[in-house]
Amino acid sequence: MKKRAMVDQDVVIRNMAEDDLDRVAELEKVIFPDPWPRSAFDDTTEHDGWGGFVAEADGDIIGYACYFIICQESHLTNIAVVESWRRKLVANQLLNAILEIVTESECEFLLLEVRPSNLPAVAFYERHGFTTLYRRPNYYRRPPEDALVLVKYLTEKETRATNGLV
Ligand SMILES: CC(C)(COP(=O)(O)OP(=O)(O)OC[C@H]1O[C@@H](n2cnc3c(N)ncnc32)[C@H](O)[C@@H]1OP(=O)(O)O)[C@@H](O)C(=O)NCCC(=O)NCCS
Repeated sequence: MKKRAMVDQDVVIRNMAEDDLDRVAELEKVIFPDPWPRSAFDDTTEHDGWGGFVAEADGDIIGYACYFIICQESHLTNIAVVESWRRKLVANQLLNAILEIVTESECEFLLLEVRPSNLPAVAFYERHGFTTLYRRPNYYRRPPEDALVLVKYLTEKETRATNGLV
């Protein structure tokens, strides 16, 4: 997988590395009611097709996003930004880094799950062209909630098929 680092003002976006996982797991616990354990992030740095990016400011990790690719499908498994850095386009940069990778890998779409009650995240995804594919009942446990499965089509063929043009 290509290594990259993007710089926008004070924020650097770079590949997630093994050394980042303690801090990422710490942020995950603060940000989510149902956090991934640290061990779940090992896949991101250890397995082919899995990857992640961190956003860094002044040497501290202020956001992260992970994905995996299987055949022509890609999945955004999580994306988060610390509260004090929100609405500064940090998640936007993290998502763009992932979109660049999955598009280069010739994925046809990027999928994700989100809580319907998570209005900031839903607004963020809508802003980036994701649409709802279906609702998955009782997907989340703590607290219990359905999931919206969202998709962003990455190829012209897939976009036209959705619009009923092919
Ligand atoms: C969702 C989240 C990752 C967005 O991160 P962010 O860095 O604040 O997002 P950005 O600044 O890149 O936002 C880009 C655009 O998305 C939309 N957006 C983001 N947050 C929004 C909010 N709270 N309300 C409405 N729209 C929002 C806006 O259109 C925004 O552009 P604008 O600020 O110019 O209006 C962040 O709120 C977060 O970490 N939430 C907690 C973790 C989480 O729920 N992750 C998603 C799990 S599925």
